[in-house]
Amino acid sequence: MSYGGKAAERLSGKTILITGASAGIGEATAREFAAAANGNVKLVLTARRKEKLDSLAESLKSEYSNIKVLPVTLDVSNVSSIEPFVAALPAEFADIDVLINNAGLALGRDEVGSIDANDIVTMFNTNVLGLITLTQAVLRIFKAKNSGDIVNLGSIAGRDPYPGGGIYCATKASVKSFSHVLRKELISTKIRVLEVDPGNVETEFSQIRFRGDTEKAKAVYAGTEPLLAEDIAEIIVFGVTRKQKTVIAETLVFSTNQASASHLYREQNIIRPIHQSVSLDYVITHYYESSNQFPISTFMSFGSKAAERLANKIILITGASSGIGEATAREFAAAANGKISLILTARREDKLKSLSQQLRQIYPQIKIHSARLDVSEFSSLKPFITGLPKDFASIDVLVNNAGKALGRANVGEISQEEINGMFQTNVLGLINLTQEVLPIFKKKNSGDIVNIGSIAGKEPYPGGAVYCATKAAVNFFSHSLRKETINSKIRVMEVDPGAVETEFSLVRFGGDADAAKKVYEGTEPLGPEDIAEIIVFAVSRKSKTVIAETLVFPTHQAGAVHVHRGPLE
Ligand SMILES: NC(=O)c1ccc[n+]([C@@H]2O[C@H](COP(=O)([O-])OP(=O)(O)OC[C@H]3O[C@@H](n4cnc5c(N)ncnc54)[C@H](OP(=O)(O)O)[C@@H]3O)[C@@H](O)[C@H]2O)c1
Repeated sequence: MSYGGKAAERLSGKTILITGASAGIGEATAREFAAAANGNVKLVLTARRKEKLDSLAESLKSEYSNIKVLPVTLDVSNVSSIEPFVAALPAEFADIDVLINNAGLALGRDEVGSIDANDIVTMFNTNVLGLITLTQAVLRIFKAKNSGDIVNLGSIAGRDPYPGGGIYCATKASVKSFSHVLRKELISTKIRVLEVDPGNVETEFSQIRFRGDTEKAKAVYAGTEPLLAEDIAEIIVFGVTRKQKTVIAETLVFSTNQASASHLYREQNIIRPIHQSVSLDYVITHYYESSNQFPISTFMSFGSKAAERLANKIILITGASSGIGEATAREFAAAANGKISLILTARREDKLKSLSQQLRQIYPQIKIHSARLDVSEFSSLKPFITGLPKDFASIDVLVNNAGKALGRANVGEISQEEINGMFQTNVLGLINLTQEVLPIFKKKNSGDIVNIGSIAGKEPYPGGAVYCATKAAVNFFSHSLRKETINSKIRVMEVDPGAVETEFSLVRFGGDADAAKKVYEGTEPLGPEDIAEIIVFAVSRKSKTVIAETLVFPTHQAGAVHVHRGPLE
């Protein structure tokens, strides 16, 4: 459904232009869009190697009789060719709806001082100037119809520069900066700007970086199980197929063996053949499939693959009595078609009871244990975890969602009660509960921790000093933990929402409904189910895929306080 019916519906008839579609992520993205839309899309496949595009086009046409594909040469580093290229697109393909700026490359690992001048120009022209120029050309089409999606391929290299990556990292940092500015400039429109930042993905990337030196390319992935192109394609298609108002602004994704640009865990005796991901016959994990086998509700399902991966898992959610926590419980139940065990916790037991009843009615086979748990009462956490009923004791997923902002006072005027209230719940409660659950995960060498952060943890704003500090703490805690558990199958994921309309603002303003309402005035905020979709998407990826961070805004928002109030023209 979403995936399945809903995604197919949202993609139906769209024209999607992909750069660098001859291999790797670009090729996989073309296949994933075709699969998600059941062939009901128009693809403009561009790259330098025309023969590869032709063969991909043939393969897609033989699989989907209804698909329209235009394979066409475009070298994005030849910047002056871009405008004429867009202008000359045949009418049937000219009205682009989605632009995937994927073409990009790294050349060499030389240190500054010995980098080849031509390599510098090629990397900047391809990764940055080509992307900017094509975006400018396509943006005119998007602006004329007030819609369109731009997906830029960034990299962990654009967040975490490493020695020997001076130019490549700078190009990807440029892409990040450009994407941020563009999202802010387009805040009053329906045009969405998305960025996906992968860690190591095994494609032709390293072969090209080391100019065909297979040994060097192999060494990049030695002893690890890197992401494959199709894993990134899934994230791109997930982003594009969200509701129009939902902008999956940034997704950072690693394999379980990686936690930063240079933080990799290598198992000495894994020897992997190079390049196994780029053959044309790899299997795409269709989590979009089987759209009709799940009950239709406002909550999405994620197809049979996700249901299979979630089956019989035990999911502990904090703050499940309202908002994102409650929606996450519903979304897990829907995605697993009820074949799941939920531990629902919060302080308001009556709310948990009524949620449990509703879920049991929809999914008779669901198992639910609901219980009062105040995460700020640290001494209660251990007994809670050790005292769980036998059937719920072996937790598989911990969603650390309970959290709050209290007030908007400036530093100097913040009450001690508010400071303690926010820190004890958002940070210390989360840390203490994680410590209690982690031994269970370590014992079985698996388990997912999903921490709910916030844009506030990335971009502090006046009147939010303590709330922002709590979410920054969550962010750094998540990063450290991901690095500490790199030699295990435990995944640490963080979702960072912008404005979501829940009880959050009501709590922040001490029950003042007018003040709470004002936060969302003139905007269309995200709903808690939009965040729940992201959480369930992340947890239901392949076990080696870590959707490390997802930053998500409503289309009216492009920063912590960068909000457009009014219609999207
Ligand atoms: N809404 C937004 O715009 C937004 C944006 C970014 C991040 N977030 C984050 O998203 C998370 C969920 O917020 P929401 O928007 O869903 O707000 P919400 O509707 O107010 O829900 C908050 C949940 O946390 C629970 N909670 C609060 N203090 C608790 C404690 N000490 N122990 C246990 N549970 C506690 C509440 O349940 P009880 O009162 O029953 O205990 C409630 O279920 C929070 O971490 C928040 O910081 C929200």
